[in-house]
Amino acid sequence: MPQCVRIIDNCVEMLSCTRDARRAGRVVGLVPTMGALHDGHLSLIRAARNETNFVVVSIFVNPTQFGPNEDLDRYPRMREQDRKLAAEAGADVTFEPQPAEMYPEGYATYVYQESLAGRLEGEKRPNHFRGVCTVCTKLFNVVEPDIAYFGQKDYQQSVIVRRIVRDLNMPLEIKILPTVRERDGLAMSSRNTYLNPQERQQATCLSRALSLAQQRVSRGETESPKVLAAMLEEIEKEPLSRIDYAEIVHPDTLEPVNQVETGSVALLAVHIGGTRLIDNAILRL
Ligand code: PAJ
Repeated sequence: MPQCVRIIDNCVEMLSCTRDARRAGRVVGLVPTMGALHDGHLSLIRAARNETNFVVVSIFVNPTQFGPNEDLDRYPRMREQDRKLAAEAGADVTFEPQPAEMYPEGYATYVYQESLAGRLEGEKRPNHFRGVCTVCTKLFNVVEPDIAYFGQKDYQQSVIVRRIVRDLNMPLEIKILPTVRERDGLAMSSRNTYLNPQERQQATCLSRALSLAQQRVSRGETESPKVLAAMLEEIEKEPLSRIDYAEIVHPDTLEPVNQVETGSVALLAVHIGGTRLIDNAILRL
């Protein structure tokens, strides 16, 4: 397993690198990230390693997906450690452009998904998915991967990315992998580093609420409002929690459902102290 990756910081070199790899018969996998890599990211890199034979991990804190009052400036940056972890998990290349490489002076073109990007995260974070769709499109163009890997942790993002790939005939496959969790259930996230010990403890209320929802559904409760009420009650037990949204939606349209079916998705965004966390679960009857 390589312990040392090739680092590329510009689009021209990136594209010629993966074009060479494909010409040599390699199947190219891309794992887009914003860095501060944890086991969730590493599970995507390992999957890419298993299923393809040239793995690119992009590390780019994408300014266009952050709102004006969000955490762009304090988002954790730890390049050396990220390179080491990515290499150990099987990356061949890390693509680490500077913001000006991706968005040079005068940049003015964006990709916007119309039907799915205005709800849930999109409603709370205007322009967030415009930034995500734009940067993913650019990364797909600059890397030309055969397969790109995303996490279910950001459920709405994964559905939207699949949709732009389909709608715009982008020639790649999107794979979505399960959420990796800490032992106590908290979904791994680069933003978990913002939590102080007390907040960290209370942050388990998201995964607890989602497990409770699955429990209720398994016992035959299929009315969404009742399942949601149980989730809210669980979250509100924690004094530092403030719910941003909690919904049960159709897996593809993201429209709220009244009756839970197998495949319906429970989605949560909750502030724990000053940190906003998201999590979700695909429910089964
Ligand atoms: P980031 O938050 O760094 O996440 C990169 C990828 O890792 C995403 O596909 C995300 O869903 C996945 N991921 C994060 N936590 C995970 C976990 N606990 N288990 C499994 N997968 C997990 O998502 C982004 O970056 C950006 O929006 C990006 C797609 C890179 C565009 O800028």
